[in-house]
Amino acid sequence: MRKFLIASVTAIAAMIGLASPAMSAGGGDVKLQAGEWSFTGPFGYFDKAALQRGFQVYRDVCAGCQGIDYIACRNLADLGYNEAEIKAIAAEYEVMDGPDDEGEMFMRPARPADIIPNPYRNDNEARASNNGAMPPDLSLIAKARANGPDYLYSLLLGYVDAPTNQDVPDGMHYNNAYSGNLIAMPQPIYGDDVEYADGSPTTPEGLSADVTNFLMWSAEPKLEVRKRIGVAAVFFLSIFLVMSYFAKRRVWADLH
Ligand code: HEM
Repeated sequence: MRKFLIASVTAIAAMIGLASPAMSAGGGDVKLQAGEWSFTGPFGYFDKAALQRGFQVYRDVCAGCQGIDYIACRNLADLGYNEAEIKAIAAEYEVMDGPDDEGEMFMRPARPADIIPNPYRNDNEARASNNGAMPPDLSLIAKARANGPDYLYSLLLGYVDAPTNQDVPDGMHYNNAYSGNLIAMPQPIYGDDVEYADGSPTTPEGLSADVTNFLMWSAEPKLEVRKRIGVAAVFFLSIFLVMSYFAKRRVWADLH
């Protein structure tokens, strides 16, 4: 019985370990700051108020240079917006449509089904506007970098003075969270960059945490569902494990 219990506990611990994303240390020259995230751990969830604030930071700060090409306006329902609010948000954007009867393309207000428009028409325009650097799409960035959320949070707060022996070329910026420490992205967040309707703090830490929450949602909108299924699966398998142990004992009882 003791052996069986040790084996079961080890198996369950391993399964739980699989359910939550691994955190690995960042590259040698980067400094990461650990944020407090409601979405980590097997029972992780998205804080909808933080997501809405994060979307506001994305819209008012990041969207001038970086797209979010996998997110359609209607997906914002996950953030707690109702249909009318989503229609109003969509209508603030313009998208290209057409051709019309004369074969002309035209601009129209976006609709909920439309993807949130990219600030640039193409990559060349994006590079030309950013000193030759390509600002990556932010839809999946939180999952595309090691330590995703902590890395994003640290990157936004990582603009510090360069060490005296570090040369910073024109158009580059020193960042202690970016691998190699020289990034072409100017510091986007200083504090008070936006005003929140709910009066939440607009410190650099508050704004960076909110936009990180939003980018984690955009990278994994089904995170909550995945975790709930994971917990249910672990629960079911644990019950099944115990039942099969007793069934085994029963089946082989005569041989002892
Ligand atoms: C809060 C808003 C913003 C967020 C969350 C954000 C996030 C990011 C992230 C995660 C990266 C990729 C870093 C990596 O490769 O590991 C990046 C790169 C970049 N961003 Fe931003 N960004 C924001 C605002 C801006 C703004 C306003 C600009 C333009 C003025 C900009 C221009 C760029 C450029 C040019 C790069 C490429 C950097 C390089 O390759 O060196 N970003 N951004």
